[in-house]
Amino acid sequence: MTTNYEATSLRDRMCASVSASDIGTTLTVCGWVAKRREHGEHLAFVDLRDRSGLLQVVVDGSVDVRSEYVLRVTGTVTARPEGTVNDKLDTGAIELTNCTVEVLASAEPPPFQLDDRVDIDEQVRLRHRYLDIRREQMQKNLRLRARVNSALRAAMERQGFCEVETPLLWAPTPEGAREFVVPSRLHPGDFYVLPQSPQIAKQLLMVGGFDRYYQVARCLRDEDLRADRQFEFTQLDLEASFVTQLDIMEFVSQAVLDGAEAATGERPSTIDTMTWAEALDRYGSDKPDLRFGMTLQDLSDVFEGTEVKAFGAPTVKAIRVSGGATFTRSKLDALTERAKGLGAKGLAWFRITEEGLDSPLDRFLGDIERAAIREVDGAEVGDLILVVADEYATACKILGTLRADLGSPPVSQGPHRYVWVTDFPMFEGLDEEGNPVSAHHPFTMPNLDDLHLLESDPLSVRAQAYDLVLNGWELGSGSVRIHRADVQSRVFTALGISDEEAENRFGFLLGAFRYGAPPHAGFAVGIDRLVAIFAGEENIREVIAFPKTQSGTDLMTGAPKEITERQVRDLRIRIAPKV
Ligand code: AMO
Repeated sequence: MTTNYEATSLRDRMCASVSASDIGTTLTVCGWVAKRREHGEHLAFVDLRDRSGLLQVVVDGSVDVRSEYVLRVTGTVTARPEGTVNDKLDTGAIELTNCTVEVLASAEPPPFQLDDRVDIDEQVRLRHRYLDIRREQMQKNLRLRARVNSALRAAMERQGFCEVETPLLWAPTPEGAREFVVPSRLHPGDFYVLPQSPQIAKQLLMVGGFDRYYQVARCLRDEDLRADRQFEFTQLDLEASFVTQLDIMEFVSQAVLDGAEAATGERPSTIDTMTWAEALDRYGSDKPDLRFGMTLQDLSDVFEGTEVKAFGAPTVKAIRVSGGATFTRSKLDALTERAKGLGAKGLAWFRITEEGLDSPLDRFLGDIERAAIREVDGAEVGDLILVVADEYATACKILGTLRADLGSPPVSQGPHRYVWVTDFPMFEGLDEEGNPVSAHHPFTMPNLDDLHLLESDPLSVRAQAYDLVLNGWELGSGSVRIHRADVQSRVFTALGISDEEAENRFGFLLGAFRYGAPPHAGFAVGIDRLVAIFAGEENIREVIAFPKTQSGTDLMTGAPKEITERQVRDLRIRIAPKV
């Protein structure tokens, strides 16, 4: 189909838009040589590629064009001779003949084949990323990302949000990751910090009366890289005033569902909601993957006062691994090691066979205990039951991790199951000095019903904090913020942050709050993760044009690199010898 943006001063059409309805017309296309095949002595077939796809052009065999040369070709659209039609190609029934070829640029042989059917070493791809993104898969992924971004922006605009850009040269923000610092030429010895997120800036925008702010925001965190983590990533960041958590969840749901529709063509019908406590209890995780069952079963009552030493713990939880009775002893040993690595004292396993339970622990079980294990989660012959006995949270988390290890389908496998996880705890444990550690960040509003526990039992205080989870990935987080000075001061005290430290770190925010802070709440969606799942990619690198490697380097530019002595002098910094 012809679209109005195809024609330029150099070309009439894009390659893959040429079709049988154009037969007989003469037109000009531009692109790269994807493949050249000789046809007899005098002719060559060239697959010309632009971002729309491929078009076969028939050229004189004497023309010197090779892989990745950039051509401008004028020719007549002709039906391919019978028997040479290629059904796999949109333009497979036609070709350009009587061609005039202009070489716009020659090219060295590419270091790898730009063909999606070939597996290429990722290091090579990243070193030549500009070539890698010519490949169809990368083109698809980055265009998908653009579509999703555009849908997210439209959804926010439609809901009355105003995009505001916030600074990259900034002061520390409270997300808790290590920060990237930037020296300042004009203020030697002082440093900017690159924002981990626009968290403080957006709260200041609420004080500034913006009411509904959003931004497709770049965030920077110096943390260990993983499949779902880069130093630089992008959030759909938002904040709104005079709202509750439910309003924010609705704004975000609309945006994410619009993004899903733009990406997949289908609008997911619902987003489930469960509390953090429920997620931990049933899935052993705060990011439950709802694509599969294997939920955690509680056997604590059955094993209360048991004779089995291994099960003498406050909580006994089990999961059913369907078909797992075939696991070999060495696989079961590996699972046990994995559980121990996660902090378990041990892992009990029971193969369900026609004869009964097959397990070293079977002979220690009483009849009621044996029957309970036999029936876990509707178990059948051929299944395996894994049991962990420990403190409640530990048992849940260990089994939750084993559940994900053994059950998680690949990212590319649907369906997409979204779930809101609400009522996160305010704190996620104690630091070395015995102070509670914020689960989200120190501006998160406690659940007002739990406020009285802030000093006496901080770890049981729930926060007005919520995550959005998709297929076991944390897509985003948010919270209602503290806008009351008295509550903020109590939370700082609970965190062991002195007035002086609070003033030093967040003084400008606390100062702003003294001039009339509206109640406000917000959220941030990780766009890299969202798009990776839509694209069916296991690693967010595949949806980022120029990502860093696992060790944080850019193989194409060589960054990070040394700077010149002059720069070092100007910045008045001294570089310690490498260790
Ligand atoms: P949080 O730190 O949970 O919240 O981040 C929100 C979302 O951003 C994404 N994300 C990342 N994506 C890729 N690489 C990373 N290193 C990375 N780190 C985070 C995740 C995550 O869920 N200011 C708060 C939000 C708020 O309260 O409004 C914040 O940044 O998808």
